Amino acid sequence: MDQFVIEGGVPLHGDVRVSGAKNAALPMLAASILAEGPCRFEGMPDLRDIRTMLEILGELGVQAARQQDGSIVTEVVDPSRVRAPYELVKTMRASICVLGPLLGRRRRAEVSFPGGCVIGPRPVDLHLTGLEALGVRVDVGGGYIAADGEDLRGGGELYLGGPFGPTVTGTANVLSAAVLAPGTTVIQSAACEPEVVDLAHFLVAMGARIDGIGSPTLVVRGVERLQGTTWRVIPDRIEAGTLLCAGALTRGDVTVRGCDPGAMTAPLALLERMGVDVERVDEDGLRVRAGARPRPADVVTLPYPGFPTDLQAQFMALLCVADGNSFVTEKIYPERFIHIAELQRMGARIRKEGPTAIVQGVERLSGAPVMASDLRASAALVIAGLAAEGTTTVERVYHIDRGYERIEEKLGALGARIERRNPAREAVGAG
Ligand code: EPU
Repeated sequence: MDQFVIEGGVPLHGDVRVSGAKNAALPMLAASILAEGPCRFEGMPDLRDIRTMLEILGELGVQAARQQDGSIVTEVVDPSRVRAPYELVKTMRASICVLGPLLGRRRRAEVSFPGGCVIGPRPVDLHLTGLEALGVRVDVGGGYIAADGEDLRGGGELYLGGPFGPTVTGTANVLSAAVLAPGTTVIQSAACEPEVVDLAHFLVAMGARIDGIGSPTLVVRGVERLQGTTWRVIPDRIEAGTLLCAGALTRGDVTVRGCDPGAMTAPLALLERMGVDVERVDEDGLRVRAGARPRPADVVTLPYPGFPTDLQAQFMALLCVADGNSFVTEKIYPERFIHIAELQRMGARIRKEGPTAIVQGVERLSGAPVMASDLRASAALVIAGLAAEGTTTVERVYHIDRGYERIEEKLGALGARIERRNPAREAVGAG
């Protein structure tokens, strides 16, 4: 298994470009099942999760391949296939995103239940009740969701709010089925995340009729068919936020290019509250400069436009060296705190009280061997390692490879001393 070996304490300097958004790319690739004719996607990041989605699409009779120019082209070649198997779904929860498109276009789906996750329970009940409102019959058995959409129709008013707010991939699923359902569907409490907005615009480019895009009320008027189209995926706001944190944590001077600052209001406001200097450069650049310890701050994760849960761990790493005490409250995944124990290994002082972490800032972190456990927790450990004194070894970086494209190259170009190693392979090579 690969690991990162990081020599910390080097302030990052320079320009770095963000990749396309993983969480927009995945449901959008799944939605290409709906299209008649080929779809071409530009700006798709080269990630393990994207490769998994292409494999799943292959299982579902969609030819999907990356072209020499980096774009991904998909085309349905066998619409009879409707089963997304456990072997693939278990490696990536976002596989559930094929459910809605399969029902929309093929009126049938068998998708393995995605199961648990290290960041806490991740049910799909809202996806299923939303689809049932569209006339889909759902049967759960043998670890699979078997859904029959023969009677798919506009669902009238349906509600997608849950105990922790709207569901992001649930909105994507219901929307992707509703666009081909005869009649009108009004989705109340739809997720407003930019990734859902991008999916909706993509569907409209294919011929779908959707009003209210970006608001919690989506009005969908079903159409008979959707045509393939060309689409450029939005930039990854979570990768951009992670890179800004890396710049601030190492007290460097980093310009993150190719981002959409308008989709990052909450993280940018938080950096400002922490006394970190962030400046807009051109239309799509953000320059972060930090010379001193950040001020402490209180953070609460919330649905968009609130502060994203996918940046909670990275900002916690930054707050670990703040000049005072901070409170980090997780309102989307109350158990998403697996990084606390690893940050503690690096000298962080953090106490967890229910869904809140109390972070007592220390002067500096110190390098240590740590274990990556989920995508964003891993990113937090890497940026903590960049700022820490001494050597940090982050094990199991395959978690990071799921969602950050060429992270060590990008950080290396900013001056970070980070190396990918594989001790097992090196031992074989040496022997
Ligand atoms: N929820 C329910 N019932 C459901 C669905 C969700 O109660 O049927 C609850 C969840 O337990 C959670 C909350 O609602 O407490 C939000 O879950 P949501 O469904 O919105 O999450 P998701 O769609 O499974 C996406 C991202 C996650 C991101 C969340 C929240 C993708 C592929 N994944 O997950 O991204 O954290 O939205 O913004 O878009 C990541 O990239 O690291 C990641 C985990």
